[in-house]
Amino acid sequence: MTTANPARTSVPPAPDTRTPGPRRSLPDSAFLAATRGERPAHLPVWFMRQAGRSLPEYRALRAGTGMLESCMTPELTCEITVQPVRRHGVDAAILFSDIVVPLYAAGIGVDIVAGTGPVVAEPVRTAADVERLPVLLPEQVAPVMDAIGLLLGELGDTPLIGFAGAPFTLASYLVEGGPSKNHERTKALMRTAPDVWHALMAKLAGITTTFLELQVAAGVDAIQLFDSWAGALSERDYRTHVLPHSAAVLGRLAGAGVPRIHFGVGTGELLPAMADAGADVIGVDWRTPLDVAARRVGGGLPVQGNLDPAVLFADTASIEVEVRRIAAEGARAPGHVFNLGHGVLPDTDADAITRTIELVHAQPV
Ligand code: CP3
Repeated sequence: MTTANPARTSVPPAPDTRTPGPRRSLPDSAFLAATRGERPAHLPVWFMRQAGRSLPEYRALRAGTGMLESCMTPELTCEITVQPVRRHGVDAAILFSDIVVPLYAAGIGVDIVAGTGPVVAEPVRTAADVERLPVLLPEQVAPVMDAIGLLLGELGDTPLIGFAGAPFTLASYLVEGGPSKNHERTKALMRTAPDVWHALMAKLAGITTTFLELQVAAGVDAIQLFDSWAGALSERDYRTHVLPHSAAVLGRLAGAGVPRIHFGVGTGELLPAMADAGADVIGVDWRTPLDVAARRVGGGLPVQGNLDPAVLFADTASIEVEVRRIAAEGARAPGHVFNLGHGVLPDTDADAITRTIELVHAQPV
């Protein structure tokens, strides 16, 4: 159920970037089978942030190149995306990028500062600030689409997941000016100036939709919408201030022919609302057991998750206990893609990741 909201109709029409062309079919993909609610021969697994600082080969390749520059250099993006597939044998690749890439590409002053995260030069807080925000033009993200083209050649039968940040998580960075613990300016804006808030969210929904449609047209096999910070909201506030805009994005992708994964952190109370926004697979953080999550969304959706990333720092026997528990809980949902409950932490031992992937693959299905 969505709350009636004028914002639903105020999303500016995104340029039509959809192409109905044939998609590659990967009939043997365990990952894609699980997203359809099937039980493939083995439990499929990939890890959020699998491409990145936990890998020495990533650190070597990135040395001297900025994060955003790396995301806009097709050969580098392709190689970094393939690294975890090669090393760990995961069942899907996730495009190496960042949620702020489409904002940066559209000309919004944002940088990624190591150890801090996205930092915005001029925070967006007024009607005039929102008015000035650009739309995303396809040519501005051409290097990302070129990287996807390279990846389809490199990955063989391994599916490629495209992604984007959801409007709320992007709005939080733009309004706060950077990472925020309490999201206080963002929450103040949605209450104090709901018109400005909804105009901002509608613009971000437009950018996100364009970016995802372009990725689908370029050939990604699945998409994930990251609403990482949605868990900072009550369900009531999520439904009123956020859901219509995420639903607008996911609704536009509904007919695209790729599974849509919807993920956030700390969203135990929000799972039904996030499912209402239109997901094919619900991403679950480590706080909510997968069988509980499956029940909360009505029992009809495949789940993705949800090993606590900190567990990868424990001994192998302890990791195995958790992998078994999560596989058993996931078996009670209509489909299960094994993942972490949030991204790989930077100091994680790469060998511990490989061993964990092996443990997942050894689980009975
Ligand atoms: O999952 C993957 O392997 C693909 C790559 C990916 C990155 N960011 C690369 C990255 C993905 C999917 C993201 C998404 C992202 N970025 C999210 C949503 C997922 C989540 O973690 O909740 C968010 C909130 C961001 C914003 C962001 N970008 C943060 C908080 C940080 C960390 C800041 C830091 O340095 O500690 C980044 C930077 C970032 N994004 C890095 C990587 C590999 C680190 C930059 C580096 O290696 O120098």
